[in-house]
Amino acid sequence: MKVFITSKISSVAKALLVKEGITVKEYPKNKTISRDELINSTKNADGIISLLTEKFDKDLIDKLQNCKVIANYAVGYNNIDVDYAKSKGIVVTNTPDVLTDATAEIAVSLILACSRRIVESDNFMREKKFVGWEPKLFQGIQLTNKTLGIVGAGRIGQATARRMKGFGCKIIYYNKSKKVEFEKELNAKKVTLEKLLKTSDVISIHVPLNKQTKNLLDKEKLDMLKPTAILVNTARGEIVEEKYLIKLLKQNKIFSAGFDVYTNEPNYNKELLKLKNAVLLPHIGSATFETRDSMAKLVAKNVINVLNGKPALTPIT
Ligand code: NAP
Ligand code: GLV
Ligand code: GLV
Repeated sequence: MKVFITSKISSVAKALLVKEGITVKEYPKNKTISRDELINSTKNADGIISLLTEKFDKDLIDKLQNCKVIANYAVGYNNIDVDYAKSKGIVVTNTPDVLTDATAEIAVSLILACSRRIVESDNFMREKKFVGWEPKLFQGIQLTNKTLGIVGAGRIGQATARRMKGFGCKIIYYNKSKKVEFEKELNAKKVTLEKLLKTSDVISIHVPLNKQTKNLLDKEKLDMLKPTAILVNTARGEIVEEKYLIKLLKQNKIFSAGFDVYTNEPNYNKELLKLKNAVLLPHIGSATFETRDSMAKLVAKNVINVLNGKPALTPIT
């Protein structure tokens, strides 16, 4: 059996596969694989370990001759046409749970960085502008007793809410299904998206990107935000109408926004760089040493199971 890993992930993945007698090829370069290289390297593979930056559309899937499993090194799988892969008998897997805490930590980091203007303050120091304590220097928004609105109260949304409860936030959420345990644990209330956007002080986005959630926060919805609102997106850029959000930030119509994800990555909108009231991260939600190792183990185990004719550990159903 032959497995192709499309990038350099933690070496534990390769070690596990080799132990099973699987032949492993890795993309050798320290950059994103090109479409042509991806097509050439995957066409004969029995298993593929893929990244969220690679588009497994019908065209690419049609070129796979032996593939039994695509193990995506991410929990999100909007880069893969899962239904089409399944119709071709290919199992698609993702990496849920192991990255929940790391990503929730990044959501909380963005919330704090936005509310307390951490990046602006750090820049101020580096520009040698600090001349002493001042009563009104970099005043921010205190989180105590504020309302946190979670858009998508799944694994990461709930983990973010749990952490923010510790800062004294009240939790409301918008989600497809009612999350009874979550409501009990955090005294969280399910509301409509409109109510959430109109009443939250902090909004954190955690829905997956799909046909229903693309542009979920469009112009009309973004106009509902309070002038003091903080909006944080660690899910996918395309869930928010980014151009309009940039316009709101430019006009100071909301307090600030934190981004870990962008529309059309990696070609993000350079207007973002001009905004003082935005905190920008390079899609590092799951990027801890611990989590990236766990993700590598999980993708390898998923591939091993499928190639051995067993059910995958975390298949996308
Ligand atoms: P999850 O457990 O599946 O949670 C998603 C939640 O969204 C579920 O509660 C689901 O509701 C809800 N939902 C789905 N579609 C909806 C809709 N149309 N309207 C309202 N609610 C909807 O996923 P997760 O593990 O928390 O991950 C969430 C997303 O975070 C991923 O898909 C990925 O895009 C992103 N992510 C980003 C990073 C990063 O590096 N920044 C890292 C990890 C994940 P039900 O339970 O009722 O279906
Ligand atoms: C990262 O964005 C993921 O979906 O795991
Ligand atoms: C600030 O440093 C304070 O002591 O209040």
